[in-house]
Amino acid sequence: MKVVVTGGLGFIGSHTVVELQNEGFEVVIIDNLSNSTAEVLDGIVAITGVKPIFEKLDLREKSAVQDFFKRHNDVHGVIHFAASKAVGESVGNPLSYYENNLNTLIYVLQELEKKEVANFIFSSSCTVYGQAETMPINENSAVQEAMSPYGNTKQIGEEIITDISKVSAINAILLRYFNPIGAHHSINIGELPTGVPQNLVPFITQTAIGLRQELMVYGDDYPTPDGTCIRDYIHVVDLAKAHVIALQRLINKNNVEKVEVFNLGTGVGSSVLEVIHAFEKMSGKKLPYKIVASREGDITSAYANTDKANTILGWKAALNLEEAIDSAWKWEQKVRAL
Ligand code: UD1
Repeated sequence: MKVVVTGGLGFIGSHTVVELQNEGFEVVIIDNLSNSTAEVLDGIVAITGVKPIFEKLDLREKSAVQDFFKRHNDVHGVIHFAASKAVGESVGNPLSYYENNLNTLIYVLQELEKKEVANFIFSSSCTVYGQAETMPINENSAVQEAMSPYGNTKQIGEEIITDISKVSAINAILLRYFNPIGAHHSINIGELPTGVPQNLVPFITQTAIGLRQELMVYGDDYPTPDGTCIRDYIHVVDLAKAHVIALQRLINKNNVEKVEVFNLGTGVGSSVLEVIHAFEKMSGKKLPYKIVASREGDITSAYANTDKANTILGWKAALNLEEAIDSAWKWEQKVRAL
């Protein structure tokens, strides 16, 4: 069965390609290499022994998207990762975010809309919940006004998919990720942030390897036990596996609604200081860090109620924070040694 993975050379995309190939899917990757490199393919081959088809294509080019789906008219599903994801950048350059995250989604859906079978998996984010009133966050928690153009593209994306599914054969699953971290245990693929990482774990590993002088902890006066923000850090391999299960659910027509939503997290909340201490314990390295002012737009706490994914998808995160941090650290050391 052929599956198209847009953004398939990115962090979550590449791990998902591996899991799809492990399950016997034939994968066609679309990626414009804006935030990834073609070498990621070598990592995928090293793990699975199979080279996926790769087409360097920019989904903002509508005619190229049309041409692609004409050539691949036997597709059983699309997993759509391709998008920009830097919150701060999106505030400074909203139109490029709306263009890159929404035009591309529309062009892909316009091709799927023409089909009799159209299974679609969408990369969404827990950012749609904003600061939820109660923890853990389940899928019925209110979607709150987005705090950035990036967050808004995820909300609008979910709405676009819901609307088109009502008047077409499109069935979709929206996966709301909490905080993906880690690397494949083979250390052949992992996260490759360009420039200064905005996310906590890549910043920690780059500091530990000496690329950054010091980690800044954004605020220690939040109303949490140790004063730092709480997040639900999920191993990227667990996350990738959930995509395969979600796709199989659509292919086997086991979905009960045209559009279903699932939180993907571990259900465990960890504070910034807990993540730092877990890293120090695992690596045996002391991490230089200082407490600074809180970061604008950061919420206090977000961790998932994963009951729906556990019971309906039959999926549960199997790897814990220590295993995720361990793999991220091994990956950092490998990348810097290259
Ligand atoms: C961020 C985005 C979110 C996006 C996700 C993608 C914001 C406000 N949110 O989530 O929309 O879906 O990335 O992975 O940017 N921290 C530090 N020092 C650092 C970096 C982070 O203390 O150098 C803290 C943050 O304050 C936060 C926690 O670590 O409490 C996690 O931060 P991060 O990895 O950036 O993820 P989110 O902010 O949860």
